[in-house]
Amino acid sequence: MSTAETAKNSQYFIDLEDQHGAHNYHPLPVVLDRGEGVFVWDVEGKKYYDFLSAYSAVNQGHSHPKIVDALVSQAQKLALTSRAFYNSKLGEYEQKITSLFGFDKVLPMNSGAEAVETAVKLARKWSYEVKGIAENSAKIIVCENNFHGRTTTIVSFSNDPDANQNYGPFTPGFIKIPYNNLSVLEEVLKQDAEHIAAFLVEPIQGEAGVYVPDEQLPEESFRIMQTI
Ligand SMILES: Cc1ncc(COP(=O)(O)O)c(C=O)c1O
Repeated sequence: MSTAETAKNSQYFIDLEDQHGAHNYHPLPVVLDRGEGVFVWDVEGKKYYDFLSAYSAVNQGHSHPKIVDALVSQAQKLALTSRAFYNSKLGEYEQKITSLFGFDKVLPMNSGAEAVETAVKLARKWSYEVKGIAENSAKIIVCENNFHGRTTTIVSFSNDPDANQNYGPFTPGFIKIPYNNLSVLEEVLKQDAEHIAAFLVEPIQGEAGVYVPDEQLPEESFRIMQTI
């Protein structure tokens, strides 16, 4: 940061975002400027523990030298290619990640919302081409109080007015059931088996509060889903 910039305080940066940025987030009034490991510092130099360890799927903390080295050396060699070409990194990454998680194939995404959108497409395609569901009639079961992202299709099955108010018309094809309720899941599956393509659920809900399911839910829901 330049000397001129260090004179700028937190309020200055908050006001800038407030004036020039969309108000789609309501951050805490802390303006972070620097990070190292589990710590971050605001523009006044106040030090904090970062209990998010950066954010979400990239919660490796801040500025780990190995990660910084990898970023810099790759950027100096080749920063971006089109998927119209092969490159010398993607295949090895795909091999590593699929063997780590035990999946046949991987389709990397830039965000959670894209991953969910792609999962919705994949489930629908599977349901038409493999399960044999009648065209355009596939349904996906979701849970109340879910958070799966902010695209138009995903907010279509949210029950949070902040996420969906005035964004309709919405994408059809979703059935909402209560979270952590296997008997309702089983009932819906029995009643509408010929239309169900998938059950989309967060292992732990984290947006409408923090809701941890009963012990048996993950295994039992897989067992129940196998009946469709
Ligand atoms: C459970 C869950 N699904 C989806 C998303 C959306 O991810 P993104 O913000 O990367 O689109 C999030 C983001 O917090 C999430 O917590």
